[in-house]
Amino acid sequence: MVHTVIIGTGCHVPARVLTNQDLEKMVDTSDEWITTRSGIKERRISSKDEPCSFLATQAAKKALDMAQVKAAELDMIIVCTLTPDMLMPTAACLVQKNLGAEKAAAFDLSAACSGFLYGLATADNFIRNNISLKILVIGAEVLSCRVNWKDRNTSVLFGDGAGAVVVTGRNGKRGILSNHLHADGTLWKLLHIPGGGCVSPPSRQMLDDNLQYIHMQGRDVFKLAVRAMEESAREALESNNLSPQDIDLYIPHQANMRIINSIAERLQIPREKVYVNIHKYGNTSAATIPIALDEANREGRIKEGDLVMLNAFGGGFTWGASLIRW
Ligand code: UT7
Repeated sequence: MVHTVIIGTGCHVPARVLTNQDLEKMVDTSDEWITTRSGIKERRISSKDEPCSFLATQAAKKALDMAQVKAAELDMIIVCTLTPDMLMPTAACLVQKNLGAEKAAAFDLSAACSGFLYGLATADNFIRNNISLKILVIGAEVLSCRVNWKDRNTSVLFGDGAGAVVVTGRNGKRGILSNHLHADGTLWKLLHIPGGGCVSPPSRQMLDDNLQYIHMQGRDVFKLAVRAMEESAREALESNNLSPQDIDLYIPHQANMRIINSIAERLQIPREKVYVNIHKYGNTSAATIPIALDEANREGRIKEGDLVMLNAFGGGFTWGASLIRW
């Protein structure tokens, strides 16, 4: 039985740390509010020299290193992002250039915070057709460029960073067991960036109206996220005849500690089996899961044969779950 296995992980975050105390000086907020409402203590912010493709490349190099795969061996690069360096070319093409991955096809994939799960599922399907492919899947974001630093409803939540995996095919029981992807475009308005696309192209008016920034109705998003993530997690388990008790490590999208706690409680996954790093990085959208996966992997939190669940939710709306036998 051919499965897609993760043979290397890596992550990279910018050096600059923005703490809750720093934010207290920028907007009407407090460390106490941010910590109790979201679980976030600090986040990383990119400089001009650290665009999306740079963070992605650094994360990719570490993943390639672990996988002992040379960039020239890569068949495909998928960068999951909603904050590419520019609209054209894709961040993936810039990563391909940076790595010198001459034979790799390269494209970006946009599914907001669920992007990495969509990217991993895409790579999985290519590999199920051709076991020998080596594919780099990266989640990379510079959300700080889309945050209105005067809006306390959103500015305290987001951060920058990148995580990457190298995947290939293997015969055996290990690898991605299944992916479960969903979307509901009717809910798009609850979380969106209205400006910069063809509906509101860049203009003085667009900037004056703050359309270039993330707009979010947090309370509604919160409730939908809990329900959708729980449902897709259960769907993934049921389709593999597994139960929540079988999960060795649960890696949820890191958007809000209270969302993570609610889902873990509903699924009855004990705290020690839930991977959390939201306090360090905040919500890095498509990058939260691959960053967490890499940190968990390097900390020795995942052993061969463990059942790992990835579970995400984001703008679009999009959501999903992947189950991996490590
Ligand atoms: O990546 C996936 C997408 N994103 C998410 O999953 C985010 C989902 N939503 C959330 O995480 C939460 O809804 C938030 C963290 C955004 C907000 O938490 P909440 O408990 O839902 O707060 P709220 O929006 O209901 O606001 C409660 C109060 C309001 O004041 P009033 O109206 O009760 O007087 C807000 O104005 O907190 C106020 N508030 C703040 N106060 C201090 C909102 N933001 C802040 C802030 N500092 N930064």
